[in-house]
Amino acid sequence: MPQKIALACDHGGFELKESLRRSLSRSDYEIIDLGTHTTDSVDYPDLAHELARAIETGQADKGILICGTGIGISMAANRHRGVRAALCTDPYMAKMSREHNDANVLCLGGRVIGPGLAEDIVREFLTASFQGGRHSRRIDKIELR
Ligand code: RB5
Repeated sequence: MPQKIALACDHGGFELKESLRRSLSRSDYEIIDLGTHTTDSVDYPDLAHELARAIETGQADKGILICGTGIGISMAANRHRGVRAALCTDPYMAKMSREHNDANVLCLGGRVIGPGLAEDIVREFLTASFQGGRHSRRIDKIELR
């Protein structure tokens, strides 16, 4: 069964989200595009919460969130229990976010990185695996209290 990947962005991430949607649609992933669908100004928390709910309910296995910097959208997503959103600016961070942090949401800055680098980051995020062991204990200590 293909992994279900939800995408969501605000206006600052719209162009990069469209570019990633096109490249991911050529792969084996099932893509769920939660918007936004135009460059009209929207509030990034609304999109972040919608994507986080898709993770919480199991509608999506992983998510990719994009705003201008990736900062606001990661802050909002991380308010949800069970969501571990990682803002990454290079492929190494993306790999480690999976291996050590079991991140289930990747956050990107559409005004920070270009589409080529974003594709490399996404590839690492979607293919690297959580290593478990001592890292499970540590991520248990992250949960909301
Ligand atoms: C929107 O202008 C911008 O604030 C948003 O995309 C994001 O960068 C917030 O963190």
